[in-house]
Amino acid sequence: MSGALQNKVCLVTGASRGIGAAIAAALAADGASVGIHYGSDQQAAEKVAADLPGTGHALFAADFSDADLAPDLVDRVVQSMGRLDVLVNNAGIYRAHSLLNVDAGEWMKRWREVLEVNLFGPAALCQSAAACMVAQGGGRIINIGSRGAFRGEPDGPAYGASKAGLHSLSQSLAVALAPHNIQVVAVAPGFVETDMASALLDGESGVAIRGQSPLNRVARPDEIAETVRFLAATEAQFLTGAIIDINGASYLRT
Ligand SMILES: NC(=O)c1ccc[n+]([C@@H]2O[C@H](COP(=O)([O-])OP(=O)(O)OC[C@H]3O[C@@H](n4cnc5c(N)ncnc54)[C@H](OP(=O)(O)O)[C@@H]3O)[C@@H](O)[C@H]2O)c1
Repeated sequence: MSGALQNKVCLVTGASRGIGAAIAAALAADGASVGIHYGSDQQAAEKVAADLPGTGHALFAADFSDADLAPDLVDRVVQSMGRLDVLVNNAGIYRAHSLLNVDAGEWMKRWREVLEVNLFGPAALCQSAAACMVAQGGGRIINIGSRGAFRGEPDGPAYGASKAGLHSLSQSLAVALAPHNIQVVAVAPGFVETDMASALLDGESGVAIRGQSPLNRVARPDEIAETVRFLAATEAQFLTGAIIDINGASYLRT
């Protein structure tokens, strides 16, 4: 398969469904061999893999609820696929724990749970992937953040904080890794039509949520995927340290 990502190996975490599955498809369509990571749903990940165009794709399981185990994922990808050119940290969880409605134990449990998967896991993967990319002479890291980092997440503050942390991690690493020809970028979607958002989008709140954008809808997973594909494929070395909003003008940062 020809394309800008031909001969590139990309690892997409959380690729068993939703945005991650769409990213895997977009990267494969542009010629990449894709490492399809999943947390628990092997059957869904196998289906994603079977539907990808091109060849050389492989499946990898890893549970990021203990982030200390995450670096082993990069080792397995490199062992099996030979190298790693692009890491997409997409896996993530949302947990509701609104301040005044949960007890102290639940409040802290949710903080630990969400930060482990959404921030510590990506931090661990960034470190092991960067070591590999430095040895290879370059690479790209793309982290999937969220509009919630800027707008606030009153019902899921750990989620908002985890994504703010991921944005900041991306910017710090963009500076640290630029001399090694590794570009690091975050994307910050607003609501996207996936399982993660379905309870809110399918319920009564769905109309108001869609109305947040002048397009009167939320994003499709393929719109996030196309942005990630561009970031993975571009040769623009100066495109690093950015946080790219994909929110249909529903929230304008200054
Ligand atoms: N949907 C939105 O509205 C929205 C908006 C802004 C940002 N985002 C971000 O975009 C990313 C993808 O979201 P999505 O909507 O596609 O989510 P999703 O449909 O819920 O899919 C989440 C993915 O993450 C994996 N995952 C969950 N917990 C994991 C764990 N403990 N260890 C390893 N993998 C785990 C899941 O794998 P298994 O199912 O195999 O366990 C699945 O592939 C997330 O980082 C999310 O925060 C989403």
